[in-house]
Amino acid sequence: MTPEFAPSDAPTLPLWLIWSGDDLPPEAGDWPAATGFAARAGQICLLPDADGGLRGALMGLGDPARADRERFQIARAHALPKGDWHLASAPAGLDADALALGWLLGQYGFTRYAGTPKDGPRLRCPEGADAERAIAIATGEFLTRDLINTPACDMGPAQLEQAARDLATRIGARIEVTTGQALLDGNLPLIHAVGRAAEAAPRLIDIRIGDDGPMLTVVGKGVCFDTGGLNLKPGASMGLMKKDMGGAATALGLLSMLADTGALRGIRLRVLIPAVENNVAGNSFRPGDILTSRKGLTVEVNNTDAEGRLVLADAMALAAEEGPDLMISLATLTGAARVALGPDVPPFYCDDDATAQAIQSAGIKAGDPVWRMPFWAPYDSMIEPGIADLDNAPSGGMAGSITAALFLRRFAQGATRYAHFDIYGWQPSAMPGRPKGGVGQASRAILAALPRIVG
Ligand code: BES
Ligand code: MN
Ligand code: ZN
Repeated sequence: MTPEFAPSDAPTLPLWLIWSGDDLPPEAGDWPAATGFAARAGQICLLPDADGGLRGALMGLGDPARADRERFQIARAHALPKGDWHLASAPAGLDADALALGWLLGQYGFTRYAGTPKDGPRLRCPEGADAERAIAIATGEFLTRDLINTPACDMGPAQLEQAARDLATRIGARIEVTTGQALLDGNLPLIHAVGRAAEAAPRLIDIRIGDDGPMLTVVGKGVCFDTGGLNLKPGASMGLMKKDMGGAATALGLLSMLADTGALRGIRLRVLIPAVENNVAGNSFRPGDILTSRKGLTVEVNNTDAEGRLVLADAMALAAEEGPDLMISLATLTGAARVALGPDVPPFYCDDDATAQAIQSAGIKAGDPVWRMPFWAPYDSMIEPGIADLDNAPSGGMAGSITAALFLRRFAQGATRYAHFDIYGWQPSAMPGRPKGGVGQASRAILAALPRIVG
């Protein structure tokens, strides 16, 4: 599905967005008051013309003091009748680019298995907004959502590879994939160990674009399904685990956005995706196994359900070998991150204050909030089990998101700066612009911060 605006030359009906307490447009006459329009959030008032035809509409935005609660309220206007519309007013406090993007994000629907693509209203790109940029961002976000929403039976490591190949072809990027036994030959043992029990072979997807300039490497967790391995997840926790490739899906969505907004000019970008299924078979890796990583650090597997950090470790070690200026990891890594901050605000970790501040403030502005948490060095002792260099699942689980981040940081040495995002990748109940289901997190924050963090 491709995000689109109404063509600028099409005849359009006026739509007024109204904060509660705002004056109503005189054109609307007495009709809104007579029909009980109170500008409640999402309340729509259709305006008839003298012949009973449709002449325009008002949509309420609710109390402006609560504007922080929902950034993309305009997406509620998808409830308007089919037809072409334009914004007749510029409501206070809403910038044109946010209106444009909010509208497009609300167009998304996942119709691969049931239903039909939405054939609803279209909006002309709001005046002053950059239509091409909004479409580029929404296109990347739709890709992320589609990849996450597609269940593991149709989005295993092979299909994730194919999606990466399709994107690479579209944007003119180079791609190499190392699969199965070749992972061992190429010294990527942890990716192989986690993925070897599944029917679909584990693999490392490696995409590059751009030839000179500062280098950004993005590593995305591509666990296409996470059963927990032999330390199996209980059913309720396993239910959503098709989304455990949310980091990979977000990395590919970000790549799409970067390419389509022209943000790749003058930089080198590499995207690495370890794509595996964490499943159970006679050749599963086991609790207690001690594995030697690409980097040479040994890891005691105290829980096969802490698999994300294992596959990321080898991909990041490989990435760090060429010393990128910035390395970013995106991963649905821990339940602890959800306990700490809930589904909407992913924690991120970064030792460089300027980079962290740029990302956090860009994210808030872009309606893609992320919140900094500390790489708390004293907790490094928690991931050191004694009989190996590292423990993938410290007992007790205290500070679980932090200890996972500290584990990853061991493999980022070599990169000048490193930022890690522990994302959820899922919208548990619908919000304007975010239907229930897969959702990209941190991609728009990174995109918006890019000029300040790479270069
Ligand atoms: N994919 C999960 C983390 C997860 C669970 C993310 C639910 C979002 C929602 C990850 O592989 C995992 O199972 N992590 C364990 C780690 C623990 C065993 C140290 C966790 O968080 O419980
Ligand atoms: Mn797991
Ligand atoms: Zn996982």
